[in-house]
Amino acid sequence: MILTGKAKLAGVLGWPVGHSRSPRLHGFWLEQKNIDGAYLPLAVRPEDFESAVRSLVRLGFKGANVTVPHKEAALRLADEVEPLARRIGAVNTLVFREDGSILGRNTDAFGFIENLRHGHPGFSAAKAPAVVLGAGGAARAVVAAFQDDGCPEIRLLNRTRARATEVAEELEHSFNPSSPGLTRGSMTGGDESSWMAGSSPAMTNTKITVWDWSDRDAALAGAGLLVNTTTLGMTGQPPLEINLEALPKDALVNDIVYAPLMTDLLLAAKARGNPVVDGLGMLLHQARPGFAAWFGEMPEVTDELRKFVGEL
Ligand code: ATR
Repeated sequence: MILTGKAKLAGVLGWPVGHSRSPRLHGFWLEQKNIDGAYLPLAVRPEDFESAVRSLVRLGFKGANVTVPHKEAALRLADEVEPLARRIGAVNTLVFREDGSILGRNTDAFGFIENLRHGHPGFSAAKAPAVVLGAGGAARAVVAAFQDDGCPEIRLLNRTRARATEVAEELEHSFNPSSPGLTRGSMTGGDESSWMAGSSPAMTNTKITVWDWSDRDAALAGAGLLVNTTTLGMTGQPPLEINLEALPKDALVNDIVYAPLMTDLLLAAKARGNPVVDGLGMLLHQARPGFAAWFGEMPEVTDELRKFVGEL
């Protein structure tokens, strides 16, 4: 990588940041597209977050990704926050504008739904209830994505039920029909500007029901989608214990966890004939709008990229 004095700069702010695959991911696209630019890992302590972002603006950066634990702080810091990010309650992508102002976006819902569409062509959340396990930041993005894709019902289950109730109440009540959310069709072409504009949201009133964590086997009856957004099943974490017997055989199963790539949940679902999509694609797709905003080209997710980023 050889830069000129005009190189475009971006990076990821996290604490810690050493585990982040984003520099490798954006680095791949920068090299592939021969772009005069760089994407850096930026280890920033929580107490330094605001001053670090302001410094990046002054240094002429185009923007940055924001990861744990800064996503809520980024929401507060941004001068303008896209409606979808406000609904989700977190910002993962900052775009620094020419006038020095900061735009906050959340591309996790986009990454999530794009991953399902690429991994399972013809996918639609509109056909049947979805079961979402977990109530953290990832779950909020998944719920928002399903709402915007016209899902009739979301069954939300979390070990700590109160957190699920909070997510259900906040997202149901904050759902704004006129918000430029994710729209079916507008995203499939991979056109960043049409996704941003989102002129005709596929509106339905998604019912969000909260279930006890202990009822997760029963919650699968009649579902068309099952998504694990908890950390269960991740390398080094406890397994996700769930009996898939009640899940219809054509239900799509997805795990946000991508280490390992094929989690026990996905293996069990696949073994009984359910279609499955792994979680790596969400990481890859959520990065596309940021790359487009900072470096000027909408990148694609290819098998080569999956292999390159997944092999760590
Ligand atoms: P993120 O924001 O990345 O989604 P998070 O906020 O830490 O991460 O959420 C982790 C999710 O995994 C939560 O839903 C958490 O459940 P709690 O809200 O009850 O903490 C879930 N989780 C983590 N460990 C778990 C366990 N041993 N059993 C069940 N759920 C677990």
